[in-house]
Amino acid sequence: MKYFIETYGCQMNVHDSERMAGLLEQSGYDPADSDRDADIVVINTCSVRERAEDKLYTRLGEIKEMGRDHGRDPLVVVAGCVAQQEGPKLIKRSKGIVDLVIGTQQVKMLPMLAQQALSERPPAGSLWPKADGRIAIDNPYEDPSFPLGVVRRGDPVRSYVTIIEGCNDFCAFCVVPYTRGHERMRSRAEILADVREAADSGRREVQLLGQIVNHYQAPDDPSCDFPALLEAVQEVPGIDRIRFASPHPRHTSARLIAAVRDLPKVCKHLHLPVQSGSSRVLALMRRRHTREEYLDLVARIRAAIPNVQLSTDIIVGFPGETDADFDETLSLTEAVGYHGIYSFKYSERPNTLAAKRMPDDVTDAEKKRRIVALQSLQRSVQSNLFQRSIGTTHEVLVDATSRRHEWELTGRTSGNTVVNFPGPPEWLGKLVDVTIRRAGPNSVWGETVM
Ligand code: 5AD
Ligand code: SF4
Repeated sequence: MKYFIETYGCQMNVHDSERMAGLLEQSGYDPADSDRDADIVVINTCSVRERAEDKLYTRLGEIKEMGRDHGRDPLVVVAGCVAQQEGPKLIKRSKGIVDLVIGTQQVKMLPMLAQQALSERPPAGSLWPKADGRIAIDNPYEDPSFPLGVVRRGDPVRSYVTIIEGCNDFCAFCVVPYTRGHERMRSRAEILADVREAADSGRREVQLLGQIVNHYQAPDDPSCDFPALLEAVQEVPGIDRIRFASPHPRHTSARLIAAVRDLPKVCKHLHLPVQSGSSRVLALMRRRHTREEYLDLVARIRAAIPNVQLSTDIIVGFPGETDADFDETLSLTEAVGYHGIYSFKYSERPNTLAAKRMPDDVTDAEKKRRIVALQSLQRSVQSNLFQRSIGTTHEVLVDATSRRHEWELTGRTSGNTVVNFPGPPEWLGKLVDVTIRRAGPNSVWGETVM
């Protein structure tokens, strides 16, 4: 029996797919090269924006067509945030294409449920775990989904380790508290065991994951907050680099800034979602910080860590966002000088405060105009930064061979810039010093220092 997993969305989903792969392999399934030769196809979905959700329905249509053309009938599993949000409705709405819907808290039950679904076919019916099977997500320390189970790491160099699941912040636009549940902290002991396991399996970089990583407080050690956790991870032999996503500006304390500055393995990069440059919109979004507080934080980070690189997430066209508000987003983007931004058109999400109380009143044409303007500004900010980096030398962790040429490698600097340079495939997973020679809008080219 073979499985195939397709993943959409954030690193948390990428990591959940690694867990599902590990669990399926432990139960005797082998990985398939494509959905065409799989007996189980898992689609791990994202619902943070509408477009990601539309992709699911497109994919389900393709899978059905593939089955018709090739006389195959794989078990179709929908997992992830759309699964959590829509539940058994998906089975009906997909007109029988979907066999099994598995929520975000039930990853560990996948092999058992898949077995059950395979033996009960047809008809599939709803295997959405009932209320009692639904893990008590409000009770963090008895949550049976911890520890998280076996993992089949998909990346030879980078490993993901979840430190917090869920979120209690309820930003007005965000569906995550509804799809991933309340915030639950994993124990320090479990996290460190995962990091050691990742190091033992040859992974050089660890990425700590959580919706608000810097809200971390170990349930098993009152003295272990997020900076203390970074210190503990720093001590794990075999790990060269530590990254984390995403910190919240509000919890970015002086201690955390000092930890990023002082711990040599912690990358000098902070992904600090700002969402908007207008304090008025930030208040509507319930982000609990102002433009001024954010800019002040950026100034303190830069003063402490001069070579730090920043990136962010920005939403355009949030309900009530005026031209003047959007101009403030542009001016903040320029003032900060991000090395990268992820920008999104606001998309109304079910259950959220904005969906309930704030009409989606910016037209799609206007959202489009704003995102184009923002991205074009960012391209020039980024080009300037990359141009200025020409001639500088950076330690790069080689994370892949280029898709274009076998002799070309790609890697990232500590600041998270993607660098392409010539080198042998054996360097995968190694740290090498690279001098930047040429810059494009999204990445740079260099050569190793001999
Ligand atoms: N519409 C558009 N973008 C959103 N994001 C989250 N929810 C929405 C939404 N409803 C963006 C935010 C977040 C990133 C992961 O996705 O910028 O930081
Ligand atoms: Fe969503 Fe806000 Fe929580 Fe981030 S902090 S996951 S944006 S609710």
